[in-house]
Amino acid sequence: MGTLLAVRAHGIGKCFGDVVALDGVGLEVTRGRIHGLVGPNGAGKTTLLGLLLGLAVADSGTLEILGVPVGRALAAPDGVAGFVDGPGLYPALTARQNLAALAALHGEGPRAARVDDVLDQVGLTDVADDRTRGFSLGMRQRLGLAAALLARPRLLVLDEPSNGLDPAGRRHVHGVLTRLAAEGTAVVLSSHRMTDLEALCSEVTVLSGGRAVFSGPVGELAAAHGALDYRLVTPDPPAARRLAASTAGGEVAGDTDRLVVRAPVPALDALVASLVHAGVAVRELTPVVSPLEAAFLALTERQEARR
Ligand SMILES: Nc1ncnc2c1ncn2[C@@H]1O[C@H](COP(=O)(O)OP(=O)(O)OP(=O)(O)O)[C@@H](O)[C@H]1O
Ligand SMILES: [Mg+2]
Repeated sequence: MGTLLAVRAHGIGKCFGDVVALDGVGLEVTRGRIHGLVGPNGAGKTTLLGLLLGLAVADSGTLEILGVPVGRALAAPDGVAGFVDGPGLYPALTARQNLAALAALHGEGPRAARVDDVLDQVGLTDVADDRTRGFSLGMRQRLGLAAALLARPRLLVLDEPSNGLDPAGRRHVHGVLTRLAAEGTAVVLSSHRMTDLEALCSEVTVLSGGRAVFSGPVGELAAAHGALDYRLVTPDPPAARRLAASTAGGEVAGDTDRLVVRAPVPALDALVASLVHAGVAVRELTPVVSPLEAAFLALTERQEARR
């Protein structure tokens, strides 16, 4: 089992002076999976990703990367690539020259075909010969991903990779990450965008105040939160309101035309059955916020309230 884990972290602690950035955090990431880190600003996401990249050393706990225990010395673990706080680029060089320089640093020589390939994967072929000084945030993010791909990592670590990406850029990046994971690479990324996490990640870890308050499959997180708010649209709002009000376990809010039902899934099922039974059509029944976002807010608010 151990060899299947790209990351095995246990009881990780990290302080910056008086600030406790990480407090007993565990993390397990299986090869071939995309694992999302979420949490409010200051929760410890970047700090944890930095430890995976070997940019800092934990104060306590144990960390194994690709089956190898990480020691006390600062060093990038073998097989790991990525970036935190934006990629480091040479502004005076073009995108292509930046990648060629990196390839040379890896001791691989500037293999033009490989550089062209990673530029194409992230959708930067058209600007390959522009200096990166003029690159937008989204272009820099994509070039950072291309740089990480050059190393053919078995663990890819990305801090908010979709920051600043336009829809086309996001599609490129999602495509690249999904393909890498299918080939067996483990990906750990942080994001504030729930839609990205839902689209990309099989598992998430929710950090709040330096602690992991949830870690597991995205579906379990969404289900962990009992009652959600759903918008209900029907041609007969008064009848729907009456039936919704009499459904055990549900609450109804909103004015007559725009009903919001708060209910756990079984109560919602019962409501739909009774609406249909009474001949009231259901035109729309949608969560007001995504189940993932609702669970995230509930978990992190609970943790914040304890602090
Ligand atoms: N180099 C540092 N020196 C001092 N404090 C730091 C340092 N790096 C992080 N911290 C503190 O550690 C805590 C965690 O920060 P971190 O950057 O890991 O959070 P984050 O989850 O990435 O937040 P964000 O969503 O804003 O990126 C914060 O309180 C931050 O102020
Ligand atoms: Mg951060």
